[in-house]
Amino acid sequence: MIDQLKEHISEVEGFTADDPKEIEEFRIKYLGKKGLLNKFFAEFKNIPNDQKKEFGQTINQLKTAATEKVNTLNNSLSDVVTEDAVYGDLTRPAEPLELGARHPISIVKDQIINIFSRIGFNVSEGPEIEDDWHNFTALNLPEHHPARDMQDTFFIQTNPDILLRTHTSSVQVRYMENNKPPIRTISPGRVYRNEAISARSHCFFHQVEGLYIDKDVSFADLKQTLQFFTKELFGKSKIRLRPSYFPFTEPSAEVDVYWGLETETDYKMTKGTGWLEIMGCGMVDPNVLDNCGIDSNEYTGFAFGMGIDRIALLLHQISDIRLLSENDIRFLEQFKSAF
Ligand code: PHE
Repeated sequence: MIDQLKEHISEVEGFTADDPKEIEEFRIKYLGKKGLLNKFFAEFKNIPNDQKKEFGQTINQLKTAATEKVNTLNNSLSDVVTEDAVYGDLTRPAEPLELGARHPISIVKDQIINIFSRIGFNVSEGPEIEDDWHNFTALNLPEHHPARDMQDTFFIQTNPDILLRTHTSSVQVRYMENNKPPIRTISPGRVYRNEAISARSHCFFHQVEGLYIDKDVSFADLKQTLQFFTKELFGKSKIRLRPSYFPFTEPSAEVDVYWGLETETDYKMTKGTGWLEIMGCGMVDPNVLDNCGIDSNEYTGFAFGMGIDRIALLLHQISDIRLLSENDIRFLEQFKSAF
């Protein structure tokens, strides 16, 4: 009987398993109610007295060995499970994480906003579907004014008073109606004009317009502001102002930046002149201030407006404006590194 017990002890010590079911079977076989240990304990009374001591010690050895075996096997099992669940395999290569790219229009728009925010301009926005007042009339463009033809307008067929805004000057009107000077705001947004679509122009594009109104704002302030802007955005501070006409500003000017004539691309871009036209500007016409509830005897101001798309084409050497709205992934992916 004792020899049998010893055989079981060495069997128990040699046993190994990593399947929970096998371990449970092993436990039942030895430690279960009808298990081997209980059977041996039941034999105890039949053992001759002089062997009882040795039998008792051996049966206890078997019990300890079986209990410890079950415990260690179960522990190693739960270790494996929790490690897997919490950490996985730390040596595996990471999942490739595909980052998207920001759109060149957004990149350039944010650069412009950032530059003007550093000199105290906030950002204002307004609706793309506008009424005649905010897009034209308040801006000194009454009905039948010939300058309305400068901006081929998309009207809503059933209501000629409602249109797709042709410039973000409409946002400036809204801003003046709702805020008292001093006003320093820029208005970025999408605008629409009924123009033939080509590599250079589209029927919708993006603008940023700026407005500064306070006491004693002068044309010199305007020039300084634009010089700061061109220096920051293009790294070029030589600009020139050519007399021009806008109904909402008087005097008005076109702004050219001196790009240079160092490379062949410079020649192409500037048509051999070295100069690039980048925006329109001027002193806000007193009629516009009065239309928007600002006393033109007390306040003066300047305004400017530029197209984001054209600037994006310039800065990123893009040859066709249509690429900006075609959502071709091969084009968009190229801006992944452009912050
Ligand atoms: N609104 C003009 C345009 O869309 C730009 C501009 C804004 C010109 C402000 C002068 C002053 O062309």
